[in-house]
Amino acid sequence: MDPPQDYVIRPMERKELDLALEWAAREGWNPGLHDSDAFYSADPKGHLIGILAGVPVGCISAVAYGSTFGFLGLYIVLPEYRGRGLGVLLWEKALRRLKGRNVGLDGVLGRQRDYEKHGFRLAHRNLRFRALGIGRPRPAGLTDLGRGDLDAALEYDRQLFPADRSQFLEKWLGMPESAALGYVKGGKLSGYGVVRKCRDGYKVGPLFADTPDIAAALFLGLAGHAQGAPVFIDVPEVNAPALNLAARMGMEQVFATARMYSMYEPDVDTGRIYGVTTLELG
Ligand SMILES: CC(C)(COP(=O)(O)OP(=O)(O)OC[C@H]1O[C@@H](n2cnc3c(N)ncnc32)[C@H](O)[C@@H]1OP(=O)(O)O)[C@@H](O)C(=O)NCCC(=O)NCCS
Repeated sequence: MDPPQDYVIRPMERKELDLALEWAAREGWNPGLHDSDAFYSADPKGHLIGILAGVPVGCISAVAYGSTFGFLGLYIVLPEYRGRGLGVLLWEKALRRLKGRNVGLDGVLGRQRDYEKHGFRLAHRNLRFRALGIGRPRPAGLTDLGRGDLDAALEYDRQLFPADRSQFLEKWLGMPESAALGYVKGGKLSGYGVVRKCRDGYKVGPLFADTPDIAAALFLGLAGHAQGAPVFIDVPEVNAPALNLAARMGMEQVFATARMYSMYEPDVDTGRIYGVTTLELG
């Protein structure tokens, strides 16, 4: 099918990202209420919108982290415009933008085959768990991460994310209706996490920690912020202690994605990743 003449794909303006997140909510992806500022800051030209005859009909994120890594997400065409070739054009433009980088994505399982056709390979699944009614007092050892702690958080994050993402984290750690907690041991940050308000309940992400006990303390502290509302976390299935934590907290699995990469699996210690940051930006 020939692409329509009046279809334009261009970088979104900041406001248009709110629209894309609204579409994500309609897909049932439960985005955070205040995600767009951080998403936009990660890469201001990295979120594309497809406009057909003046009407926004689809989007995709192709966020570049430095010159070696990128992440695809928010790949959506409005239901009434699907099956006309508009999605594939978004996808191709996104891939062109990230050319030369190792690219990650979290695909819905039904699309894994599609992405394999483009050379993406499965690294592992991320399992979304839901916890209910966690409102216990905050465990000892936790500290609120404020502006002054950004450098320590960035340094820790750099060990567990494939690239520097300071612009993103600067916003992510200061979102309204969120909390960022760290765990300090021997004067050193040994784990950190963020919880944020979403359409439905709250999501924890990232949850990075040196040990299962630190992860558990951070999780309880973060989940306590939700004051009994549902709390969601996306756990790499390959991290057995993280699955144990989910089981110990009585969490129920509600969704799964395929984490795939275009070139290679990044050299990060998945054993310290208890919750991924987002499924949209990695
Ligand atoms: C995925 C989606 C964006 C595709 O948009 P679209 O405009 O319908 O796609 P096109 O018309 O360009 O493509 C038509 C065909 O190519 C396939 N296709 C689309 N994107 C593809 C990709 N990146 N790689 C390979 N195949 C692809 C489609 O599956 C479709 O095949 P089918 O009719 O056998 O299912 C759209 O279906 C959608 O918004 N789905 C819901 C959200 C979602 O699941 N997004 C993907 C998350 S991983």
